[in-house]
Amino acid sequence: MITWEELEKKCRECSACPLHETRTNCVFGAGNRGARLMFVGEAPGEREDATGIPFVGAAGKLLDKYLEAVGIDRDDVYIANILKCRPPKNRDPLPSEQDCCIEYLREQVRLIRPKIIACLGRISAMRLIDPNYKITKEHGTFVERGGFTLTAVYHPAALLRDPRKKEDMYADMKKIKEILDNV
Ligand code: URA
Repeated sequence: MITWEELEKKCRECSACPLHETRTNCVFGAGNRGARLMFVGEAPGEREDATGIPFVGAAGKLLDKYLEAVGIDRDDVYIANILKCRPPKNRDPLPSEQDCCIEYLREQVRLIRPKIIACLGRISAMRLIDPNYKITKEHGTFVERGGFTLTAVYHPAALLRDPRKKEDMYADMKKIKEILDNV
């Protein structure tokens, strides 16, 4: 099995898709490599590209608030994205870019072996749970896949655009914490 060091080096040197040409930093992932809970977002934004750390911009700050509200320590979780490089102007990741990048995430999951994988938003849920995933209908539901429990919650950026989703987000995050405490 590949080691963390080998995987991170390979990812930082990756030139498999054109996004490597415009990245400032590869945003490999961050957090606890022994985490029982892993969050998977979509792709780095401007702040993430500038710092090399996932979810440090406005969406990340909102995610931090939910973690704190339900009693999950950010130091206890691992956070990664489907794409490790920022798409120009934060456009949706192309399927071809996802195909180039997904193996890094698969290796991260193999190394961490989290109990729960929580997709942040529709892009991540469509890639990891079901290509036809409907986030507005299915958020907060749990499925078992290959020894992992998967769920999806709204992307924090969606909550910034539509605060009416915040109540659902809180309930979904609370459920994640409850299930985590019982596995
Ligand atoms: N949005 C994402 O999906 N991932 C990040 O790392 C930041 C914003």
